[in-house]
Amino acid sequence: AMRCVQNPQSMQELGLEWRRQGLRVGLVPTMGYWHEGHLSLMRWAREHCDLLVASIFVNPTQFGPGEDLENYPSDTKRDSALAAECGVDVLFTPRKDEMYLPDHGTWVTVPELTKNLCGRSRPVHFQGVATVVCKLFNLVQPTFAAFGEKDWQQLAVIRKMTRELDIPVRVEGRPIVREADGLAMSSRNVYLTPEERAVAPHIQKGLCLLESMIRAGEDDCAVLRRGVMEYYAARIPTGVLDYLELVDPERIETVDHIRTDVLAAVALRIGKARLIDNKRINLE
Ligand code: PAJ
Repeated sequence: AMRCVQNPQSMQELGLEWRRQGLRVGLVPTMGYWHEGHLSLMRWAREHCDLLVASIFVNPTQFGPGEDLENYPSDTKRDSALAAECGVDVLFTPRKDEMYLPDHGTWVTVPELTKNLCGRSRPVHFQGVATVVCKLFNLVQPTFAAFGEKDWQQLAVIRKMTRELDIPVRVEGRPIVREADGLAMSSRNVYLTPEERAVAPHIQKGLCLLESMIRAGEDDCAVLRRGVMEYYAARIPTGVLDYLELVDPERIETVDHIRTDVLAAVALRIGKARLIDNKRINLE
């Protein structure tokens, strides 16, 4: 039967005991309000471990002022039923005041990877992500942890942090799960009105258009970006573009001219939702 653990110390005692026993522990960190993207991580992790831990924690330190921390959707009852179905052994749901004491003041930052994309528009975001993931790794003591490529920059930050701080956890990236019409699944899709939801699949279509322009021989990133921006303006007229960039997939630095391997990444606000998506374009 699935166990629910709230207290961070209790979680760490369990994690340390499993490590001592040599068990393979898989961790899937989340902020809850699960969809098929989260579940795909759990199903994959389930296949590769002896004990599966999923965490639900709406981490306050990765939200900036004016972001949706207070309104972030949640349905813990539904999530825990899904967790049991996915074969989660321990559902870890720490309380905010037990994760962060009032005088908390230690932060993990990865400045080199967070100057562009979401790091530019959300200045404290990745410091909050890296810090909480580091804490989750120390509490759960997993053998590996699974993350989605939907948050490509987040995955790059976590990989670099884990490597450079010598954290003994394998970081696994998994593909983006989409709705039937191509919209990347996100807990934030619930913010969309039916009209907004109807045009949201054009976010991915714009990235597919970009890929076809590249395959047709266009290699000037300014031209490529302008083409997709015009597409978005026409197909998602109420959308406000946060960024549309072509970057090196590992270094997350913008490129001027197409090379064999680039990541196209977009963040677009539609109504109350800020949606992100990306596409890796490899010409080999
Ligand atoms: P959250 O947005 O809940 O996402 C949890 C995990 O699910 C992340 O690894 C994310 O990349 C993955 N995910 C979300 N949508 C996905 C999709 N459509 N396809 C595949 N994977 C998807 O990301 C976070 O929470 C937080 O920043 C966290 C890492 C938990 C730290 O607080």
